[in-house]
Amino acid sequence: MTQVTTQKMTQDELKAMVGRAATEYVQPRSVIGVGTGSTVNCFIDALAAMPQRVKAAVSSSEQSSERLRRHGIEVVDANSVSALAVYIDGADEIDHAGNMIKGGGAALTREKIVADLAGRFVCIADASKLVTVLGRFPLPVEVIPMAAAQVARLLRGLGGEPALRAGVVTDNGCHIIDVRGLSITDPAAMEREINQWPGVVSVGIFARNKAGVCLLGTPQGVRTLAF
Ligand code: A5P
Repeated sequence: MTQVTTQKMTQDELKAMVGRAATEYVQPRSVIGVGTGSTVNCFIDALAAMPQRVKAAVSSSEQSSERLRRHGIEVVDANSVSALAVYIDGADEIDHAGNMIKGGGAALTREKIVADLAGRFVCIADASKLVTVLGRFPLPVEVIPMAAAQVARLLRGLGGEPALRAGVVTDNGCHIIDVRGLSITDPAAMEREINQWPGVVSVGIFARNKAGVCLLGTPQGVRTLAF
């Protein structure tokens, strides 16, 4: 664990610390995958400060693309690469096996596409995101608008309480249903089940594309979990 001297660190400082630590997983001149969120914003800023720049990035959101370009980092289309060495992204929750809930920022589908291209998912998060069982954070499900009511009924059948995220249209022109009250004891099975329902674009369970490494920001420093 990287030791830090500061006793009281704010959540922003923890995010900045893991954002910097993630640059150690980036090869100079490589093309990398970049996720979305406030922790990833810290990573992008640290990436821009690396002495040897990356060649380009595939980004999971318009928000991250804009920040990357502002730093002079080229953003390339996912279809122009056949593989990425690494994908760096945050999470809303991560369990002790590297399964995650993602999509709090509504970018889950693009995040999953970029994660799937990558050989390794490096998750960066503050320690509050580590859980024993996924589900305290409402599970995001991206749906084609026409299917929202039917998918909500099916989600109720799993024991969840679905609610349409008000005023949100994703980068793909779709809606997000947030599901409270689920206890996700078998993330891979629930991901497969929800993925197959008509009208579901993607579900925010990342079990098939789980993290290989998690850099967790703690007041004592960066704790590295390998799965
Ligand atoms: C974006 O859709 C999410 O999957 C993010 O990765 C997640 O919300 C983490 O965001 P923060 O780093 O802002 O907590």
